[in-house]
Amino acid sequence: NLYVLAATVAAYLIGSLSFAVIVSRAMGLNDPRSYGSGNPGATNVLRSGNKLAAILTLVFDALKGWLPVWLVARFGEPYGLGEGAVALVGLGAFLGHLWPVFFRFQGGKGVATAAGVLLAFNPWLGLATLLTWIIIAVFFRYSSLAAIVAAVFAPFYQMLIWGFDSIALAAAVMGVLLIWRHAPNIRKLLAGTESKLGQKSAGAK
Ligand code: G3P
Repeated sequence: NLYVLAATVAAYLIGSLSFAVIVSRAMGLNDPRSYGSGNPGATNVLRSGNKLAAILTLVFDALKGWLPVWLVARFGEPYGLGEGAVALVGLGAFLGHLWPVFFRFQGGKGVATAAGVLLAFNPWLGLATLLTWIIIAVFFRYSSLAAIVAAVFAPFYQMLIWGFDSIALAAAVMGVLLIWRHAPNIRKLLAGTESKLGQKSAGAK
């Protein structure tokens, strides 16, 4: 189905908009790839001390995952776009964030984008996963640890309530990639050198 391919490519292109870089540029802040963890994501933008920039990054990176999935789920049926296509489009947006065509394929870790995708897949799946992230973040104050734990749980939430479907499979694939992208964070967590949520970074503006 050509529509599936077109929708997935479009989602990938939207996912390729790295809002950490775009928002920072628009607000006259340093490039997030130049300080802290070097990751173009909301957590690292927060290390600049600019909360608004971090919130905007979070919201737009999540929206770029949510929007293509929602559009296909809502309007895709007449074009033969069913659940499998919805799952593929979500993956497309997520992959765009990790390997953005507009930013020399140097993207982020996919946390906010995955959250948007999961919320559009299924609001209950999204909310359960978000709640998991929040609980770990509140107790341990590590954004990365919260993301890793939430990524492990997400496919199980989907399977427990709705059974094994293409949405659960997409959540599992995103989870594996997300955790793999957090390898430097895992090393820092084990070494006790991971920075806590909201800790500012020298060299950021
Ligand atoms: O948003 C990604 C987060 O889980 C980790 O980001 O900058 O601490 O590597 P960072």
